[in-house]
Amino acid sequence: MSHIKTETTDRVMRIEIARTDKKNALTQDMYRAMSQALAAADADAQVRAILIHGTKDCFTAGNDLKDFLDRDPHAGPAASFDFISGLPKVAKPLIAAVGGAAVGVGTTMLLHCDLVYAAPGARFQMPFVPLGLVPEAASSLLLPMIAGYQRAAELLMLGQPFGADKALAAGFVTEIVPEDRLLEHARAAAAAVAALPPASVRLTKQLMKRQLREAIAAQMQEEGRVFAERLQSGEAKEAMNAFFEKRKPDFSRF
Ligand code: COA
Repeated sequence: MSHIKTETTDRVMRIEIARTDKKNALTQDMYRAMSQALAAADADAQVRAILIHGTKDCFTAGNDLKDFLDRDPHAGPAASFDFISGLPKVAKPLIAAVGGAAVGVGTTMLLHCDLVYAAPGARFQMPFVPLGLVPEAASSLLLPMIAGYQRAAELLMLGQPFGADKALAAGFVTEIVPEDRLLEHARAAAAAVAALPPASVRLTKQLMKRQLREAIAAQMQEEGRVFAERLQSGEAKEAMNAFFEKRKPDFSRF
């Protein structure tokens, strides 16, 4: 059964992340399916907007940590990297509805979305440093720009969870919407943008993103290089093993 479900109605493609038993943690197959969905949406003239969401109590717990532990360091670029590097290239409006946990790429992908709606109970986290890793998806470039350096440094260096209010203040959430209306609200926004002149919408997005295109691609390359090194580090292995062993990690020997 696919953990990524897609459906197109009224010119809006809905991408649903649905792997509830693992808090919607993303496997390589899921990244592949999401990349294919985004490419299909961009290629289909009938699709005017894309809405991405998870379940009511969880957007996504981010990359599957087992996949990080098992990753072959000599394998080519992972499907996760293809997904992340495809995000800034999506030509059509990308709308996210976030309820519950949005961890790792669950938060960083939002920096590439055009409209982000969050429930009051949404919990964001970019735990790259606590996991012995470094930021990805150009978040080390985009978050300081969007939120200001010190706010970004707190969120990226300490890597602790934070709520919807803080995400709104940081500038990457458009609006906080009551949980029971979240999906409906995001759908209405997607429908509204889908009803507008499509070329004008696409060109506006292109113009807003134009100046940063090359900088984002370069930052992703550099983040990806360091990230791949960090995945092989003792610090990262200790952090991830501790998660699965349901214990506190111990970094005292490093
Ligand atoms: N990768 C793999 N499995 C994951 C996962 C992930 N990123 N996140 C959650 N799971 C699994 C858990 O191992 C658990 O599996 P089990 O039932 O077989 O033991 C199941 O999903 C439920 O997770 P649990 O931690 O019990 O749920 P929770 O409601 O207490 O907490 C989270 C939810 C999202 C806060 C917590 O699971 C979490 O912090 N996950 C790790 C997030 C992370 O570090 N992602 C990588 C970012 S780079």
